[in-house]
Amino acid sequence: MARALADWSGRAVIRGEGVVLRATEPGDAESIARWFNDPEVRRYMGARFPGSLVDQRRRLESRSDPEKRLGLCIDTLDGRTIGICSLHRDDAEGHNAGLGIMIGEKDCWSKGYGTDATLTLCCFGFRQMDLHRIRLDVYTFNERAIRSYEKCGFRRDAVQRDAYYKHGEYLDVLIMAILADEFREKWPERSG
Ligand SMILES: CC(C)(COP(=O)(O)OP(=O)(O)OC[C@H]1O[C@@H](n2cnc3c(N)ncnc32)[C@H](O)[C@@H]1OP(=O)(O)O)[C@@H](O)C(=O)NCCC(=O)NCCS
Repeated sequence: MARALADWSGRAVIRGEGVVLRATEPGDAESIARWFNDPEVRRYMGARFPGSLVDQRRRLESRSDPEKRLGLCIDTLDGRTIGICSLHRDDAEGHNAGLGIMIGEKDCWSKGYGTDATLTLCCFGFRQMDLHRIRLDVYTFNERAIRSYEKCGFRRDAVQRDAYYKHGEYLDVLIMAILADEFREKWPERSG
């Protein structure tokens, strides 16, 4: 059940089953910059080019209103920070949101952390933020991510052909979404 709690150090955290989501802090800038600057990670993300540590620090220090954009680090239960995820409200009424996720530590790929973090964030979004629909964009070649999102219950809404130009090629982007009722039906134990 994804409720914001305070952990032993007083930070707000959202507990999943195998991960803990917590607010990003300026001290996370180095890890996040390293992940975005790793070409193997960045190829799956929207970012085209490497970025500087200074820019990353600035971004974290000027964190926007969490009601509109919730940016979180993903920690394992033993406290290792392995990635980031976010929910950003799309519309004025605030019932639709976009989800983003990156497990930056590559040795943690395909171990279930991404799926658990996505489920935890969706649960928080539907229960605590009163969202109706959560959507995400994913490159059609990113089969691991698509598999993870489908396990969570996201459905394929549409493919936008040649929607993104990156390093000399046009990429197709799949839009996936899950509705609050679909989430509750698929994950009653996370929705109670
Ligand atoms: C996408 C991402 C969040 C998924 O998290 P994860 O912890 O690696 O994924 P999970 O282990 O929870 O689930 C992945 C599933 O895909 C499967 N998988 C792995 N590689 C695959 C491949 N090449 N093709 C199809 N399925 C694959 C895994 O076996 C697993 O399924 P299973 O549990 O049925 O065995 C993570 O890999 C990541 O951040 N990657 C880099 C950045 C990225 O792609 N971000 C998303 C941008 S939209």
